[in-house]
Amino acid sequence: MRLDNFVASSSGLTRKEAKRAIQGGDVFVDGEPCQRAATQIRGHEQVSLAGQLLNLPGERYYMLHKPAGVVSATEDPEHATVLSLFPADMRPGLRIVGRLDRDTTGLLLLTTDGHWLHRATSPRRQCPKVYQVTLPEPLAEKAIQQLESGLMLKGEDKPTRPAKVTVMDTHCIHLTLTEGRYHQVKRMLAAVGSHVERLHRVQVGDIVLDPALAPGDYRPLTAQEVSQFAED
Ligand code: URA
Repeated sequence: MRLDNFVASSSGLTRKEAKRAIQGGDVFVDGEPCQRAATQIRGHEQVSLAGQLLNLPGERYYMLHKPAGVVSATEDPEHATVLSLFPADMRPGLRIVGRLDRDTTGLLLLTTDGHWLHRATSPRRQCPKVYQVTLPEPLAEKAIQQLESGLMLKGEDKPTRPAKVTVMDTHCIHLTLTEGRYHQVKRMLAAVGSHVERLHRVQVGDIVLDPALAPGDYRPLTAQEVSQFAED
């Protein structure tokens, strides 16, 4: 792609303005000023305008603070979907990374990048997910041990993978799972004779729900958050 097209597409300048910026010496390619608008950019170069690194608009990555009552689906005949929390022009191509139940709140990732989605959800990665679980009464020590060592869920033939329980207070635990079976947290708590009053996801891998996000709000992931599921 020509340099003037690259600058225009990545900066919001018109092609004419981009050309002017290039000729004026404001554009650098790999650290060197480049004043030739027809220079070919192949994609591996670092192009900057007035000191700002430019990137072509490409894949998009977001974290959403999922509120209760919306479904983790792109379409639903009955309920509002998590996609409806994004403006209509941002929805095309956006896919949901894993699912949370309709009544579960907290961290949900969305992306247009199918490979990234695949890596983030691949069972092979055993990516830890941390759930904050509100309980009707304190958990017995034996129940904690069962959750941690793995237990059989109804209708399944393999025990759950070892999990981690952190007791936050008498009625709240953080449960860290490295797999994602259907309604897993609710079924695990039921299997130890308890039940989930509220379920809220706080973390996926190293990506932590941003405390600045109110329910229903989203923000783009930082480059560091995106790199969590970079190529292996
Ligand atoms: N486990 C559940 O039971 N529900 C969720 O939404 C996520 C994990």
